[in-house]
Amino acid sequence: VSFDDLDLMELRRRRGAKWSRCASDAIPAWVADMDYPVAEPIRAVLRQMIEASDLGYPQGPDPEGLATVFARRMRERFGWDVDPHRVEVLTDVVQGLHLSVELFSNPGDGVVTPLPIYPPFLDAVSGNGRRPVWQRFELTADGYRIDFERLRAEFVPDTRVMLVCNPHNPTGRVLTRAELGELAALAIERDMVIVSDEIHADLVYGGHRHVPLATLSPGIAERTITLTSASKAFNIAGLRCAVAAFGSAELHRRFRSVHHHARGGIGALGLAATEAAWTQGDEWLRDVVRCLEANRDLVAGHIASRWPLVRAGIPEATYLYWMDFSAAGLPSLPGDFLLEKARVMLAAGGPFGEGFEACARLNFATSTGILREILGRMDDAMAAGRGQ
Ligand SMILES: Cc1ncc(COP(=O)(O)O)c(C=O)c1O
Repeated sequence: VSFDDLDLMELRRRRGAKWSRCASDAIPAWVADMDYPVAEPIRAVLRQMIEASDLGYPQGPDPEGLATVFARRMRERFGWDVDPHRVEVLTDVVQGLHLSVELFSNPGDGVVTPLPIYPPFLDAVSGNGRRPVWQRFELTADGYRIDFERLRAEFVPDTRVMLVCNPHNPTGRVLTRAELGELAALAIERDMVIVSDEIHADLVYGGHRHVPLATLSPGIAERTITLTSASKAFNIAGLRCAVAAFGSAELHRRFRSVHHHARGGIGALGLAATEAAWTQGDEWLRDVVRCLEANRDLVAGHIASRWPLVRAGIPEATYLYWMDFSAAGLPSLPGDFLLEKARVMLAAGGPFGEGFEACARLNFATSTGILREILGRMDDAMAAGRGQ
């Protein structure tokens, strides 16, 4: 497969949010979709279902289906033993976040929340009347690190749930076993439920390794709900399918107390595509990760050589590059400035948490040619706006 052979005109005809919400003279690099063609085994199963008009209500999902495929994959990739009977298939990962916060905490309680963070985490916490207890990523000489001392000082008495995002959107950090252990120790100390969003686990670069939080110890597993899906790594977010794995029967029972009709239905295409991704997609995935890693290096080199005033840590996973423009002397917020002057659309920093207005997130999952065009446009605008 060639991931470098993308045609801008064709991309602009896509109906998805990434391209359709972007003006025709601008290049979108905001929402977390990749521009690459989807893996052939996924295309094949979707084509087959459409051609056979096989679009009726799907079977199940039952533990023998996608849950078993997921459990096998977790064992093979991470040595993690998941009981398929403790897996639920959901519409999406964000649904799992919301339901977990609502079920395992009360209005006014604290919820440990990473910062900066993929904005739906903030909706799940503040939007549900909970108080965020910030787990901050600070940029150090070694990249982004969790400020554990500050986290300890932030705790409020009724902090019932800890949200973890690993690998982390937007910084691209892959937490080490030691960092995960420190987070989990806090959760045990305060008897918290951990909700671990591991949706980017398949997009990890050389030198780093994803550790599922639930593999740390049986004591940690039993208080952990792991959420993931094939939607990021296999680029099928529009198909709406995710899984939640519960570390104890009690967590599972509480989750299932929400009626399945209220939890929403699962689409037949999403189920089939996810199964194809997880059973036949790994060759494609290897190629994509190689291509993304080269793009990551291209952006890292560009920042180092051309934009000394932009502060950023190098992503260890994800196709997202989080940049702090606060020292770059731009005349307006970077998202607005770059859209207006460079005609590139990044994700603005503000929604990732208060205090991140001068940051922006670049999605580098596109062809090298389009990525170079994006960086070149940013060079010109920043030179004019004093960012370089
Ligand atoms: C950390 C994280 N969680 C969840 C999602 C969204 O997942 P879903 O579409 O399954 O809700 C994303 C999408 O970018 C993400 O980055």
